[in-house]
Amino acid sequence: MLQNERKIIVLADAQAIAENAAERLLARLAQASGPAAICLTGGSSPQQLYQLLAREPCRSALPWDRVHWFVGDDRFVPPNHVLSNMGMARRLFLDHVNAPRENIHPIATTLATPDAAARSYEADLKRFYGRDRLDPARPLFEVVLMGLGPDGHTASLFPHAPALREGKRWVVGVDQAGCEPFVPRVTLTFPALASTREMLFLVDGKEKREILARVLAGNDLPASRAQSDGKLTWLIDRAAAPESRHAP
Ligand code: 6PG
Repeated sequence: MLQNERKIIVLADAQAIAENAAERLLARLAQASGPAAICLTGGSSPQQLYQLLAREPCRSALPWDRVHWFVGDDRFVPPNHVLSNMGMARRLFLDHVNAPRENIHPIATTLATPDAAARSYEADLKRFYGRDRLDPARPLFEVVLMGLGPDGHTASLFPHAPALREGKRWVVGVDQAGCEPFVPRVTLTFPALASTREMLFLVDGKEKREILARVLAGNDLPASRAQSDGKLTWLIDRAAAPESRHAP
């Protein structure tokens, strides 16, 4: 996997992060011809972005008919459950726009186990990609959105979990979450998440300052290990940024 440079952009607040992320997403989609995949994330960090996507000017600018929406991880709960990441994306934007139903790709959390759901999602991703081996020159996603958890996890890749070392599978089941909410998860692995033209971390709020400082200092945390075959961009707000990173 490519060791690429992490670009850190400090913005005023969570709203500015959402606006910047929306612009990047639109620019990537404008450059892509034909079907294009976006990998969503859960948690609170992407919520303002999702709301923006459903509103003008994004709403009219997005090529809904050719964008496919996947999710980097989900909680193993029913699709309409309040904890479901894809459920949240639906409530905040996908259910309010002209996104064709077949372009929305939730993880099948109604299957018997997280592992069964992971295998089924891997098959969905491979079907979309058209091959069963990832080619760094032809990324699976245009943009992968990521968050930073309080323990340094990202997607559902928790510190010390075996999933961190997975090099072959694109998606795995996580029977025990390392952080709240303590429900089993299904997560894309680092190689699948890296298969993107741009990976965008969204990090805001003072509660994130300490863990973000550890990531930026090079501590070995899951979020520090995330790589991208394309660009790797961290959008952080002033409240989360360590003092030395504050914009003038
Ligand atoms: C999840 C996530 C997870 C999240 C981080 C940050 O399902 O919980 O995908 O990786 O992105 O925990 O969450 P917040 O944005 O809520 O801080």
